[in-house]
Amino acid sequence: MNPLPPVPLPVSRMKVLITRDEITRRVAEMGRDITRDFEGQSVLLVGVLKGATIFLAELARSIELDATFDFFGVSSYADRTQPSGEVRLTKDVDTSLEGKNVILVEDILDTGLTLNYLKNVVLQHQPRSFKIAALLDKPARRIQPIDADYLGFTIPNEFVVGYGLDYAEHYRNLPDICILPPEAYSAG
Ligand code: IMP
Ligand code: MG
Repeated sequence: MNPLPPVPLPVSRMKVLITRDEITRRVAEMGRDITRDFEGQSVLLVGVLKGATIFLAELARSIELDATFDFFGVSSYADRTQPSGEVRLTKDVDTSLEGKNVILVEDILDTGLTLNYLKNVVLQHQPRSFKIAALLDKPARRIQPIDADYLGFTIPNEFVVGYGLDYAEHYRNLPDICILPPEAYSAG
């Protein structure tokens, strides 16, 4: 296999799929839904590093409840655009999940392997409740059935970057969600 191209493609060559304004509006709605569903309670937002950080930061600010944060680290993709099929915990949460309203915050639901794995980890800790908030869903690629309780956008089967999502660690800081053209990662 050829090495992956290390040089990021100029942003001007990317197609915007979801604009920053569309994201902002939708995430605010998701925050309102969470606020309504957990009225009078506290929530623990558990982000999946690193892709969910930007989404978590924006979502958290539209949740009008007492909230705390924690993070899981997982490795599954290892700088590739195809899932390896195995998920490994690289960082556990630092706080107790027991008796908490845990909302797992993820950038994208793709094959479902990552969230199924993390769901089992969380449920072992006996939270009071468990929900999934995902910014994006690519249902065409699902291997293990799982749905988000709070979902931003359903997208077609394209590799996307920006707003936290990366390709080989690049492009996480793009404010829009863009389609990475296959020329940017196909070998040769
Ligand atoms: P799953 O385990 O296949 O559902 O994969 C979820 C993880 O794969 C996400 O947390 C992302 O890190 C990564 N991923 C899946 N699709 C994309 C994509 O289109 N762009 C960037 N990362 C993706
Ligand atoms: Mg991720």
